[in-house]
Amino acid sequence: MCGIVGVISEEQNAGILAYKALKKLDYRGYDSWGIAISNGKGISIYRQVGKIGELPKKMHCGNLAVAHTRWATHGKVCQKNTHPHASLNKNIFLVHNGIVENFQELKSFLKSSGFSFRSDTDTEVIPNLIELYINRGKSLRDATRLALKKIKGSFAVILFAKGHNYMIAAKRDLPLVIGIAERKKFVASDLLAIAKKARGFLFLSDNEIAEIGNEAKFFDIGSGRPKFKRFEHLAVDNLESYKNGNKHYMIKEIKECPIAMKNACIQPIELLDNTTKEIRKAKKIFLIGCGTSYHAALFGAWLFRSIAKKDAVAVLAPDLKSYSKLLGKAALVVALSQSGETADVIDAVRLARRSGAKILSLTNVFNSTLTRHSHIKMMMNAGPEICVASTKNYAAQISLLYLLANACISRRNYAKKEIFIAAKQAQETIRENSRIARAISKKLANSKSAFVIGSEENAFVAFEGALKIKEVSYIHAEGLPAKELKHGTIALVEKGLPVIVICTKSDDFALHSAHEVKSRGAFVIGISTEKNNVFDFFIRVPRGPLSSLLTAIQLQLIAYYLAVERKNDPDKPRNLAKSVTVR
Ligand code: G6P
Repeated sequence: MCGIVGVISEEQNAGILAYKALKKLDYRGYDSWGIAISNGKGISIYRQVGKIGELPKKMHCGNLAVAHTRWATHGKVCQKNTHPHASLNKNIFLVHNGIVENFQELKSFLKSSGFSFRSDTDTEVIPNLIELYINRGKSLRDATRLALKKIKGSFAVILFAKGHNYMIAAKRDLPLVIGIAERKKFVASDLLAIAKKARGFLFLSDNEIAEIGNEAKFFDIGSGRPKFKRFEHLAVDNLESYKNGNKHYMIKEIKECPIAMKNACIQPIELLDNTTKEIRKAKKIFLIGCGTSYHAALFGAWLFRSIAKKDAVAVLAPDLKSYSKLLGKAALVVALSQSGETADVIDAVRLARRSGAKILSLTNVFNSTLTRHSHIKMMMNAGPEICVASTKNYAAQISLLYLLANACISRRNYAKKEIFIAAKQAQETIRENSRIARAISKKLANSKSAFVIGSEENAFVAFEGALKIKEVSYIHAEGLPAKELKHGTIALVEKGLPVIVICTKSDDFALHSAHEVKSRGAFVIGISTEKNNVFDFFIRVPRGPLSSLLTAIQLQLIAYYLAVERKNDPDKPRNLAKSVTVR
């Protein structure tokens, strides 16, 4: 969600460095941005609504800087709500990721102590609380600790204060990484922001506070006791991503689905053995996720049931609560998340851990919060996914779940072979079908609504296809199981309504539904292993055990071209964030 960055430098280039690091977080989705810079004599703040623009020349000089991209939660999108926020007397300048759950209560308390507020945000209580404790004689570090102890909810903050030549960073539940380089130090909410700049890295743990100046010192927020932490060298070379001649990251990442499918299979043998053992052992398996990862969980649960014969269900991460009595030692929770930072997934994992359940996480981001909460961690190896809407990571998730399900019945090599065949087919179908996907998009561009239907596992692909269309084209789309159509939704079918039908089996039930909607005037698009007269438009995919995944990739292509046709930016859809770190 929000991206935060802090820089301290021995030169007067902290503003520019923070600005450049912030630009690396551009992909995450935000609505406004800002930066505060101190040059030792004065402090300047620059805050803007909209995309990150140029940094004014006058902001170039300074040795301390904090910067922020905001995704509004409390208070509308406007300049006064944009970070950094300053305390009443402009002593503290702070950027914040997270939500202060008890901000109303803290605001009233601060008001009764003579503070007033400039914004409608929850964040503004933090610099003011710190100032209050400083007024009461506390040091900057202790004042920050005391303020953070009062806050309910998760947070990551970076701040500097007038008259202090260091910055402070602290976190609970949200990520913060510190990087050191020659004559400068960085803090960021995302490793990507500072990967190319720093040579040593350190992830702050929950409830830790760091004082970062000439040296970096660490303390426990609760007790104030010092902590010893070590910077490490990390392999960060593959974190950066470029469009490589493509107009958007979305199309580049769709084209990378085949390689992501193959890379998902490259897992250390011991890890694969251990994971397989845990899946076999589990009495009950819960696959959890949000958004696209939830759709992968639905597909994965189906694979675990139908191939591995395991009792597996997919649950929306926030709904795992209602299963709490069914968790416990015999349960395995498979947590899926591209970013590994989705708050609803992490909350569910915490709840499952408390019950004694084993946690297996499948993520695409090294050292993400989710991996740190898991007993077993598997990486998707899909490479950086920059477009907000997930594409190649979904392809990697389905591939790895297929591999795991087959590994349980000693068919690991067979599964790998099938994934490699499907990856080749995916590459061919992306190339061959782009023209037709574009033609379909032209036809659908002015539609108000669309349906995507599929039977059995293809229903889960239909959900994902509809989500992709909504996310980037803003056309209302509904995915549903083909058999469900006649139980209500068919009432909405009228002349010209686009219905995308997924068919991957001979005698696929979805074909019956295609006829039903066609006879009521629908415009039928088939993504199918075979041509049929009922289709007004037809996209062919090869038949095989992973045909459903191939159809999902075709749906991604349609969604992409729809977005382009409607002149939307598919990489940064309105109102969406790449990882939703708030509840
Ligand atoms: C957000 C994004 C979705 C994504 C979901 C889950 O809602 O906008 O595109 O699918 O988060 O993300 P995760 O990183 O947990 O897979």
